[in-house]
Amino acid sequence: MMQAGELKETEYPIRCMRVQPTRPVPDIVEDVRNGLLRSPRTLPPKYFYDGHGSRLFDRICETPEYYPTRTEDELLSKHSIDIIAEALPDQIIEIGSGSSRKTRRLFDACEVHTHTCEYAPFDVCEPALSQAATELRSEYEWLYITPLVGDYHAGLGNLPAAEGVRLLVFLGSTIGNFTPEETKEFIDEIKRCMRPGDYFLLGADRVKDTSVLNAAYNDAEGITAEFNLNVLRVLNRELGANFNLQSFSHQAFFNEEFSRIEMYLISEIKQNIHLAKIDTTICLDSGEKILTEISRKFHFSELESMLIDSDLKIVKHFQPANQYFSLVLAQLSAQ
Ligand code: SAH
Ligand code: TRP
Repeated sequence: MMQAGELKETEYPIRCMRVQPTRPVPDIVEDVRNGLLRSPRTLPPKYFYDGHGSRLFDRICETPEYYPTRTEDELLSKHSIDIIAEALPDQIIEIGSGSSRKTRRLFDACEVHTHTCEYAPFDVCEPALSQAATELRSEYEWLYITPLVGDYHAGLGNLPAAEGVRLLVFLGSTIGNFTPEETKEFIDEIKRCMRPGDYFLLGADRVKDTSVLNAAYNDAEGITAEFNLNVLRVLNRELGANFNLQSFSHQAFFNEEFSRIEMYLISEIKQNIHLAKIDTTICLDSGEKILTEISRKFHFSELESMLIDSDLKIVKHFQPANQYFSLVLAQLSAQ
């Protein structure tokens, strides 16, 4: 019998394991020196995702304009039964898992097949990870969860490798946030940490009508703008900077030449920003831009080529009738 005040097993706080980097990655000071202090000015997207940023991202996913989450969720609802039947994974590792909301479709399919597995969500945002893990533990009592904190740019070689079949999952079109060169390196790295017979499930956004794309990154409620501006709040906190969020605006548009959304913060006025921790001042002109994110949009065959070029075999390629999004299941062939 449990005593009053005792915790049930599912109520213990979940501890996140830190994944050791396989190579050094720049810290925020180096990233700011290499990006924000150079021309053109840029910032790496990972700094969006502090606890507040991750909550804002979840709200973006619920806006009527941001179709990718809904579309991918519908694809997963429809096809997870097939995906799980094909892969029967012993371990699901999800890269950039965030709230793990859509991944629940895979767990629901495991229940239909009375199949059990381990789940290792891997993300840079510890608050998002531990919240997701806590919720999942009570929703899926059979699921063994190992939350992993770390930076996927620091390598995937130290991710835990359970016995049996692994299904690596990379959803939300986060792949689109990489440059073409980074994408190639990343898929090669995914391939290197797979064993023959393992699977990779990739969710990626597709090229479509420009007005639909532009609306998705400019929601009427302004949540995407808030999310974009949040990176300045992170710099204020981490580098003792004095960005005034009110003197910047959000801009996002589809660049057809590069088939990508480009997202910027625009300085509304000529201003000096002081970064106390690195004792540096940045002078921004009125209208000067900081590139904070790219989000590439892909063609059906391009996605397949990306995977095939890294020696993965396409098992299934799911898309909705409007072709808005792709869910590609690939495998490292046994040979
Ligand atoms: N997969 C979720 C979240 C996508 S948003 C979905 O589809 O809705 C991108 C996720 O990647 C966020 O949770 C963010 O915290 C994480 N992320 C961003 N940069 C990262 C990095 N360098 N290393 C690990 N995770 C990162
Ligand atoms: N991977 C998501 C995407 O490219 C990330 C994202 C969605 C995002 N909306 C955003 C990133 C707004 C920055 C700002 O669609």
